[in-house]
Amino acid sequence: MPYSRNMKNIFVLGGTGFVGSHVCEQLVRAGWQVTVPTRRRVHAQAIQHLPGLTVLELDVHDEAALTRAMAGHAAVINLVAILHGDAAAFAKAHVQLTEKVARACLANSVSHLVHISALGADSSRMRTAPSYYLRSKSAAEAVLVQVAAATPALRVSLLRPSVIFGAGDQFLNVFAKLQAIFPFIPLAGADARFQPVWVCDVAQAVVRVLNLPPGGHGVQARELVGPDVMRLRDLVHMAGALSGAGDGKGRPIFGLPMWAARIQAFFMELPPGAPLMSRDNLDSMRVDNIATAGMPGLAQLGITAAAIEPVARGYLRR
Ligand SMILES: NC(=O)c1ccc[n+]([C@@H]2O[C@H](COP(=O)([O-])OP(=O)(O)OC[C@H]3O[C@@H](n4cnc5c(N)ncnc54)[C@H](OP(=O)(O)O)[C@@H]3O)[C@@H](O)[C@H]2O)c1
Repeated sequence: MPYSRNMKNIFVLGGTGFVGSHVCEQLVRAGWQVTVPTRRRVHAQAIQHLPGLTVLELDVHDEAALTRAMAGHAAVINLVAILHGDAAAFAKAHVQLTEKVARACLANSVSHLVHISALGADSSRMRTAPSYYLRSKSAAEAVLVQVAAATPALRVSLLRPSVIFGAGDQFLNVFAKLQAIFPFIPLAGADARFQPVWVCDVAQAVVRVLNLPPGGHGVQARELVGPDVMRLRDLVHMAGALSGAGDGKGRPIFGLPMWAARIQAFFMELPPGAPLMSRDNLDSMRVDNIATAGMPGLAQLGITAAAIEPVARGYLRR
């Protein structure tokens, strides 16, 4: 076990991902010693150069190995999630892994667990949320509410972002690429509303909750959203226009009725690999993805959320 317990040692599950790599960068800048477990070392290419960051090849679902690897860390961040899969896959990645992470935190006397959830998840919605994704995210929150209630020494921060944009995202970049190829876009969930948040604001929020003064034990949930509430069709149009598709006007967008969207999603799920849109993603979009009035968010952490257009202009422009 290479680590001696240090208040600045932090263990970041999912640190190799889109959000995780930004979180790791900001943690390193803030002086944390960061350990990132990954299923495959090659996934850590974007972060392995960061000073003070250690990459561990590890099966995070192996609880004994996870517990050993977490020894010596004062805080843990869990960013692991999947967007596609069946009920069993969502249960494994979101709920069972959260249970293992929580037990490993208790075994190692970790004082702060930061769990990245999703807007629309809530422990009370584990049976009623519209999709496997949101039900399993809600069930993971329920696990942590219970653990925190039974363990006053563990502080649990739940962060619930809306859809996240930023250089390298799989969101606006995908819609920009589609409009570079196709003359028009048949769009599922076109009228669903989102409140997109910048990846750097999400990463900053993680660092800020870690720096909160001690004493706030128990669970605290925060919703991370940007200042713009936009329908999916407007976001897709913006991505097309900013990337120069259709001579800078974006491609025509045709909203699909739900029955046609489900057929489209069914066919997208057939080839191997992650589909562009699954039926479960459509189910998630049955409810708007916007902040709940009165919930704490970025502003309470002293962060002014970035507007989407100026940031997206910077990375979508071809
Ligand atoms: N991106 C968004 O728009 C968005 C919106 C709302 C909430 N969130 C939440 O933010 C967090 C990070 O999202 P992201 O977009 O950064 O995700 P991502 O890029 O897909 O990264 C996910 C990470 O989880 C690990 N992982 C994936 N599947 C796994 C599995 N089956 N078992 C174990 N580890 C697995 C991967 O690590 P290795 O491959 O290295 O093992 C990867 O680093 C998630 O909790 C997500 O739900 C994201």
